[in-house]
Amino acid sequence: MDDGALSFAKAAPMAFPFTPAVEAQTAPVWDKVKSRITPFEWRAHAPLIAEINRLKRKKNAVILAHNYMTPEIFHGVGDYVGDSLGLAREAARCDAAVIVQAGVHFMAETSKVLAPQKRVLIPDPLAGCSLASSITAEDVRMIKARYPGVPVVTYVNTTAEVKAETDICCTSANAVQVVEAAAAQWGTDRCILIPDEFLARNVARQTGVKIIAWAGRCEVHERFNAADIRELRAAYPGAEILAHPECPAEVIEASDFTGSTAAMTEFVARRRPAQVVMITECSMASNVQADSPETEFIGPCNLCPHMKRITLQNIYEALVHDRYEVVVDPAIIDRAAAAVQRMIDLPPPAQPARYDLVKARHHVDVEML
Ligand code: 13P
Ligand code: SF4
Repeated sequence: MDDGALSFAKAAPMAFPFTPAVEAQTAPVWDKVKSRITPFEWRAHAPLIAEINRLKRKKNAVILAHNYMTPEIFHGVGDYVGDSLGLAREAARCDAAVIVQAGVHFMAETSKVLAPQKRVLIPDPLAGCSLASSITAEDVRMIKARYPGVPVVTYVNTTAEVKAETDICCTSANAVQVVEAAAAQWGTDRCILIPDEFLARNVARQTGVKIIAWAGRCEVHERFNAADIRELRAAYPGAEILAHPECPAEVIEASDFTGSTAAMTEFVARRRPAQVVMITECSMASNVQADSPETEFIGPCNLCPHMKRITLQNIYEALVHDRYEVVVDPAIIDRAAAAVQRMIDLPPPAQPARYDLVKARHHVDVEML
C-alpha cells in the first residue's frame, strides 16, 4: 500500500463537502501532490485541509510537520516542515499560542520542553518511536554511574525524562558536530552516544572520538541491508542512492549519500538527479518529489507505523477539541531544556550535515553498553 492510500483510509469519514470554493482554495496544494494522490482521495483531503487552515488562523496555532508526514499533511497544512532539528528550532522560535506536532510523541515533547508556555498538541498520543522506547531515565543514570566524567550525548529520539538525564542532545543532522563539541568541552576522547546503535556506529566512523553505544534501533531503518542496496543498484544503475544514518553501517557503505532527512531533501534540490532511491521512510520521497517533479523516485516504501498514526482527520480533531495536550513535569522540563538548548546553541552547520563516504567505509569499533 502506498503512503497516500494509507492516509486516505485513515482520513474517512469525510466531514466537509468538496465545494468549488474549497477546490479553488486548495488548488496550489493539489498541483504539488497530484502525482502522489488520486482525485478521489483529494476530494476527501481538500475540505479537511481548508478547515484545518481556517482553524489554525482562528486559534493562533501552527503545525510543525516532520518530513515523514504524508503529502497532504506536509504540503497541505504544515506551516513549518523539516527534520527533527529544524522542528525543534522552530518550536523555540515561533510565536503561536498553540503548536500542533505532526510527528511523533518525542518531537511534541521536545517542542513542549523548548516552549513550555505554549500549548503543544499531538493528534495521536500513541505515536511513539522504537528508539525512544528503547531506553529509560533509569538506564541513563546507570550508564552515568558506570562512566563518570564521560559526556552523555542523547539523540532527540528519546523521552523528556531521558533528555533530562543527559548532557547534550543531538539529531542526525548534527551528531558528529555535537559529539566532537562535547568531547572537547569535557576534555576527553570518549563520548556516550545513545540510544541508536547504528547512528552511533556511523558517527564513530566520522570522528576520532571513541563512541560508547546503546543497542536501540529504528524499526524502519534497521530493516535495510547491503544486499537490498546491491539489488537496487543492479536494477537502477543510474540512480543516486541516499540513506539515513539510522541505517546499518553496511547500508551507508553501499550508498551514494548519507544525511538527515533535511540533508536528503537538500541533496535532491541542489543536484536534481534524474533518478533517486531514498533509503528511509516512504513519505519522504513523496514529499520531495512534489518539489522536484523532474526527478524519478524509486521505492522502497517502508512506513513508520508511528508517524502514520497522524492523519488530517486527527489533526482537525486536535484543533477542534484542543487535544491531546502534551504535559511534561516542570522539573523535567528545565533539565531536558538545558540538554536540547546546548545543542541549539551550537553554531548551525553551514548546510545540513552529510556523512563522508570515504570515512563511512572504514570500520571503527564502538563499545556497546
Ligand atoms: P531526522 O532528524 O533526520 O528528521 O530523523 C528523525 C527520525 O525519526 C528519523 O527516523
Ligand atoms: Fe522512530 Fe524510526 Fe519512526 Fe523515526 S522512523 S519515528 S526513528 S521508529
